[in-house]
Amino acid sequence: MKVVIPAAGQGVRFFPATKSQPKEMLPVLDRPVIQYVVEDAVASGADDILIITGRSKRAIEDHFDVSPELQKWGQLPELQSLDELSKRVSLHYIRQREPRGLADAVGIARRHVGTEYFGVLLGDTINVCTPPLLHQLWAIAQLHRSSVIAVESVPVEKVRDYGIVTGREIEPGLYQCEELLEKPDPASTPSRLGITGAYVFSPDIFLAIDRTPPGRNGEVQLTDAIQLLTQEHTVLATTFRGTRYDIGDRFLWLRTNLEFAYRHPEYKGRLRDIMVSLMRDDTVPQ
Ligand code: G1P
Repeated sequence: MKVVIPAAGQGVRFFPATKSQPKEMLPVLDRPVIQYVVEDAVASGADDILIITGRSKRAIEDHFDVSPELQKWGQLPELQSLDELSKRVSLHYIRQREPRGLADAVGIARRHVGTEYFGVLLGDTINVCTPPLLHQLWAIAQLHRSSVIAVESVPVEKVRDYGIVTGREIEPGLYQCEELLEKPDPASTPSRLGITGAYVFSPDIFLAIDRTPPGRNGEVQLTDAIQLLTQEHTVLATTFRGTRYDIGDRFLWLRTNLEFAYRHPEYKGRLRDIMVSLMRDDTVPQ
């Protein structure tokens, strides 16, 4: 399976931390976020990954590359597991020249992908799912011979952060998409089913991207392209088993770090002690 990972976004919600380094390289506990995403794609069956990068994103390529100056540390288990990961998959990179939107970034993959179905995972989102999320989507795509997107129910005040889907439920948790809207107003949203950023597409998505005019923020939105795709092809949306961690802004990143540390046997006790003492001394009014 080929997988495309768009990682060209500027990380505006993280400035100044992401002014000169990719948000995808921010660490969650012991690894940069992009490593979790690549691990997830490989666990889902990816043998070929194309990462769409851009300005200030060179650190992503360096991360998965051999670094001669670190050879003497090569036996460290942390570096060995990264080396093994990089060897298990064919990694490719293309730069998006200008930030023109998520659909534009996916469109850049056209020649690389060719005429096969392919997966898309966002470079700033960690999915902890069993089976791995793209594996779940791929199975549905194969069965129904159609594109599939992952969705989850989001609180109504959060719909303005998501692509939103309406559709007919054809099986429990599986919807045939009808209307898709990028970041609607909570007051008028037709649904609370939010697009979580994992997709399996038929190559028809590239023709739909070609026909998609710039939308929200003047960018070519993937949600708008999927809306056009539904006019000629079935597109399914599915809920999934597992948890998604979006690290796209400071609080979400902090929260993800805390949760991962709390679930790790080495850090759990120490983290709990710190939190308890912080709360005890906390004089900030509630
Ligand atoms: C992007 C997509 C949106 C999706 C979201 C998931 O938005 O445009 O449809 O719901 O990812 O995180 P972004 O978060 O990049 O603004």
